[in-house]
Amino acid sequence: MQRVVVTGATSGFGRAAVRRFHALGYDVVGTGRRQERLDELAAELGERFTGLCFDVSDRAACEHALADVGDVDILVNNAGLALGLEPAWQANLDDWLTMVKVNIEGVLYLTRTLLPGMVARQTGHIVNVSSMAASWPYPGSNVYGASKAFVSQFTMNLRCDLVGTRVRMTSIEPGLCETEFSLVRFKGDESAAKNPYADVEAMTADDIAESIVWATQQPRHVNINRIELMATEQAWGPFNIHRE
Ligand SMILES: NC(=O)c1ccc[n+]([C@@H]2O[C@H](COP(=O)([O-])OP(=O)(O)OC[C@H]3O[C@@H](n4cnc5c(N)ncnc54)[C@H](OP(=O)(O)O)[C@@H]3O)[C@@H](O)[C@H]2O)c1
Repeated sequence: MQRVVVTGATSGFGRAAVRRFHALGYDVVGTGRRQERLDELAAELGERFTGLCFDVSDRAACEHALADVGDVDILVNNAGLALGLEPAWQANLDDWLTMVKVNIEGVLYLTRTLLPGMVARQTGHIVNVSSMAASWPYPGSNVYGASKAFVSQFTMNLRCDLVGTRVRMTSIEPGLCETEFSLVRFKGDESAAKNPYADVEAMTADDIAESIVWATQQPRHVNINRIELMATEQAWGPFNIHRE
């Protein structure tokens, strides 16, 4: 039976992807820091689901948690977050460092732990959840977007290293999507968290999970490099020119 590890399984894209992989018959390992959410998923899914509770930004915790996980066919590096939307000179430096630790270091720890086994078995797929913010700057995206640019470029660089190993790499780059993402970004402020989704049909966690799973279901000789998705009613604006 094929095994998939999905980080950030307690909410949003990760939880939706867990449900889809499970429905396809995979042995699914879901991770997150909220044990009660993992317990809920375990109760819902029953057999073929294992919850692992740890912080992806803690290297020792990642290595310890994954030590006995067995052979992994698919890793979905999805856990991540944005904190704040202030301009750079007002942003909280601790928030910046947290985004670097979770969005970048977390991806490195999981990847470096599970990739050697994939290479040795000459099979595997790592799907990294990046963001549209990796390619498209916007005000207040400063470190969040930069951390996701790291994720996207890391994905493509690993493609180069992995040629000849049969291990595949995909970067998923979503735009506006309603999950707990904004609640986290605005630190629990529910009215601020609703604003990005007001009066617009944003994408859903299921839409993104669909693209994650689809990328993994292609024939073995096909590598989906990246998928960029936006809400239909989201697009780019004109250049912002400040005039005196
Ligand atoms: N929603 C969007 O508009 C959007 C757009 C583009 C990209 N993304 C990216 O998509 C990914 C998933 O986001 P989402 O929208 O599904 O947000 P979400 O609903 O807030 O889910 C985030 C998940 O990440 C986990 N997580 C956060 N920090 C963690 C840590 N230190 N250790 C372990 N797990 C951690 C959370 O679990 P715990 O809290 O239980 O630890 C949760 O399961 C993120 O990488 C995000 O940057 C989101």
